[in-house]
Amino acid sequence: MPTITIDGKEIEVAPGTRLIDAAEEAGIHIPRFCYHPGLSVAGNCRMCEVEIEGPPKLEPACNTVCRDGMVVHTDNERVRKTRASILELLLIHHPIDCPVCDQAGECKLQDYYMRHGAYKSRFDLEDKLAKPKMVDLGREIMLDNERCVNCTACVRFSAEISGEAELGMFQRGDNSRIGTVGARPLTSRYAGNLVEVCPVGALTNIDFRFRRRVWFLTSTDSVCDGCARGCSIRVDHDVSHAYKKSSDRVFRYRARYNPRVNDYWICDAGRYSYKRIDARDRIAHPQLRDGTTLDWSAALDRIMAALGAAARVDVILSTDRTCEEMHAALSVLGPLARTIEGRVSGAGMGESDDYLRLEDHTPNRRGALELGLPAEANANESEIEGILDRAARGETDLLLVLGVDLTSGDLDNEVVQRAMAGATLSVYSGSRPGGTGRLADLLLPRAMFAEQSGTFVNADGLIQRIRTCVEPLGEARPEWSWLDDLALRLRAEPGPPDDSGRFARIADRFPFFSGLGLETISPLGTPGRGIEMPETPVAPGLRQPSKEEALR
Ligand code: SF4
Ligand code: SF4
Ligand code: FES
Repeated sequence: MPTITIDGKEIEVAPGTRLIDAAEEAGIHIPRFCYHPGLSVAGNCRMCEVEIEGPPKLEPACNTVCRDGMVVHTDNERVRKTRASILELLLIHHPIDCPVCDQAGECKLQDYYMRHGAYKSRFDLEDKLAKPKMVDLGREIMLDNERCVNCTACVRFSAEISGEAELGMFQRGDNSRIGTVGARPLTSRYAGNLVEVCPVGALTNIDFRFRRRVWFLTSTDSVCDGCARGCSIRVDHDVSHAYKKSSDRVFRYRARYNPRVNDYWICDAGRYSYKRIDARDRIAHPQLRDGTTLDWSAALDRIMAALGAAARVDVILSTDRTCEEMHAALSVLGPLARTIEGRVSGAGMGESDDYLRLEDHTPNRRGALELGLPAEANANESEIEGILDRAARGETDLLLVLGVDLTSGDLDNEVVQRAMAGATLSVYSGSRPGGTGRLADLLLPRAMFAEQSGTFVNADGLIQRIRTCVEPLGEARPEWSWLDDLALRLRAEPGPPDDSGRFARIADRFPFFSGLGLETISPLGTPGRGIEMPETPVAPGLRQPSKEEALR
C-alpha cells in the first residue's frame, strides 16, 4: 500500500488511488470542476492542481495516481495563486448573475471564488462575450452557456453513462459552447443527472429552478419507491416556507451514491416521482364515498362492525408497502382473512430500460415474498379475480384494498365496480384515491413513504431503510399504525410502538431478516440472509457513511 504525505498528514492509500480522492479521504478538499468520480477523467479545468515535491510544475490531482513516498502540498502560496488565476480565466466572460442564478448555494464557481478568488476584476463588463442563455434542451434541462466552465462533465455523462451521446462541445476558444448534437432536443431518460454533474449554473432543472433557494432545503437520505431497483436518493424538503406560493413540502430527489444499486445516478421517472407526495388529490382524512370525513375512531368502528363473529374478509395488499406495514397486515388481518394477496399496484408491471429502471414499479415485492405473501408478479391474477367475484356475489363482509388500484391494470373494471359495491364494507387505504378509492365505501389516508420510516427490500435482496422526511399529511398514518389500533379493539397483540421494535419482530420471525437490527442496516443497505453481494468500495468525495458502515 503506497504511503503519501498531504499537507503534513501521512496516509496509506489503496494502489491506484487518485490524489484527489486520497486527499478527500484525509479530509482535505481539493477544488475541482471537471472531476466526477463516476465519469472518466478529463483533466481540463486545472482547478485541482497541487504541488508535488520533485516535479517542477503543479500537477492535476484528479489525473495523478498516488505513488509511494509522494509529498503533496494543496494549500501553499503557489497553489492558491494558481487557483485564483484559473477562476479569473473562467470568469472573463461569465455574466456574474449569481443573484438571479438558481444554482447559488450549490455552485462550485461561486463557492471557490469566495474561498480562493475574491480579487478585483481586471475585465470590463462591456467586453464580455454574449452566449445563448435560457436554452431549453428538453427533458426538463435548461442551458445557460454564459455560465458554462467547459468542464465537459455533461458530455461525458451523456456518452459514458446514459449512452446516447446527445451533447457536445462546439466551436473553439472563447466561443466554446455546449449544445445538443444537431440542436435536437434531449431524449435521455436519465437527463436529470446532467444537472447533478454540472458544477455550476449552466445546466439547471426546469422542474426545480426558482421554486426554493437551496439553503432553505433539508436533505434526508432515503430510497426511491419508483421501482424494485430501490435507488438511493436524497429527499430535499422544506416546510419552513409553506406559506409561499404553494403548500409543497418536497422539492426534489437527488441521486445518493450507492455502488450496490445505482452508483451516482437515478432515472428521470424516479427523480420526478417526488410530485406524488404533495399531489393535490392526497387523501388527508378518513372519509366515506360521498366525501363525508370521519375521525379515525369512527372509521375503525365501521371496520369492527363489518367484522362480525364469522366475518368473511379478503385483503389485497400492494407491494409498495413497507415491510413493517405488510407485517402488521399479516399479523392483524391474517387470522381474520380468507385470503391476503400481495400485488404490484396500479397497472402492475410497467416500462423498464436496460440500465436501472425495472418493470416492477413497486419498491418492495421482494420484501412481500420474504414475509410469505403470495406476491409473485402477475402470478396471482386468478386469486384476485376470485376475491372480486366473491365480493361481487355478496359473499364478502369486508374487502380491504391496501394501495392497489385495481382499475388501472388488466382486471375487468366492471367486475371491480361490482366487487366494491357488493362487499358489505369495501375499504381502500391509500395516499391518493385512484379509481379503486373512488369506488370504496370507506377511504383511509395512508402516509406516503417519505412520511414514514421503515424498510424496503429491493429486487436483488438488499434491505434498505426509508426515513421520515416530512410529517404525514392531515390525518394520514402508516398502515401499521391503524392496524395496531384495530388489533387492540380485536383484543389481539398490537405491534411494538417504535421503529426498532417493529423491525426486530420481523427479524425474529422471518429467516431472511434474522440477526439484523434496524440500527445495523447500512446507509447503503444490508443484504438479507443468503444474499451474496460484493463489498461496497466507497467513492470519496460523495461518501456519506463511514467505511465501517458501508462495509457492514
Ligand atoms: S454545461 Fe455544466 S457540465 Fe456541461 S460543460 Fe458546461 S459547466 Fe460543465
Ligand atoms: S430506477 Fe427505479 S428506483 Fe431507481 S430512480 Fe428510477 S424509478 Fe427510482
Ligand atoms: S478537476 Fe482536475 S483538472 Fe479539472
